[in-house]
Amino acid sequence: MPLPAAIKNMDESKRRFLQSAAMFGASLLLPASAVATEASGDKRESEQLIEEQENRLNKLATAPPVQLTATEDNILGPYYRQGSPYRAKVTSIGEPGTPLLVKGKVWSLNTRKPLPGAIIEIWQADDKGRYDNDDPEHPPTADSFTNRTRMTTDETGRYEFESIHPGKYRIGESLWRPSHVHYMVSAPGHKTLVTQLYFHGDPHNEKDQFVKQSLIRTPKKESSNGVSYELIAFDIVLAGTANR
Ligand SMILES: [Fe+2]
Repeated sequence: MPLPAAIKNMDESKRRFLQSAAMFGASLLLPASAVATEASGDKRESEQLIEEQENRLNKLATAPPVQLTATEDNILGPYYRQGSPYRAKVTSIGEPGTPLLVKGKVWSLNTRKPLPGAIIEIWQADDKGRYDNDDPEHPPTADSFTNRTRMTTDETGRYEFESIHPGKYRIGESLWRPSHVHYMVSAPGHKTLVTQLYFHGDPHNEKDQFVKQSLIRTPKKESSNGVSYELIAFDIVLAGTANR
């Protein structure tokens, strides 16, 4: 499809953005003002067109998955602690281990819309499979929280945190818990969900009695500023409360 004159005159990056948007069918969402922009060739209007297009693509990105089912729950485990601090990093600066970035959205099963302001609590083992409260003889102080965090989803239901790939830990003679990240997710009008995120390819997934296939994600290898890290997308769907 030939590009409108106003778009032809844009710089290369913006033109590519619109072309790629058109490939995804987003051109169907162009507003009526797009025609006026083509006729006038006004650059400010073309900038506005870009902005409107970006907004529409962002809305497309917030569309719920076709199959929206409640995220399965999982065991709480023995290492949960109340009162984790709000912060976007689970681990401390320089924490040993493979860096991990987790991004996702919290959805409402009832409304099929994202849930802003949902509270997500995260806790996990360190690179060696240790929790900060797994040694009764050396309990953490009340205000010390290692490899734990709490956050709220933004206005579009998104959340994101930095961490490290959690280590496995032994729970029996020859039984190991595979790498996992604990979640507790709550939002008004919804059942609080306790669950875990697992990593595809972990050799201990098969034998672990708690792993659920729907909770396994495949880490994507990424790199930033010369640092390699794992990226995981993990959306959460909360069911409504029983009385709704
Ligand atoms: Fe655990």
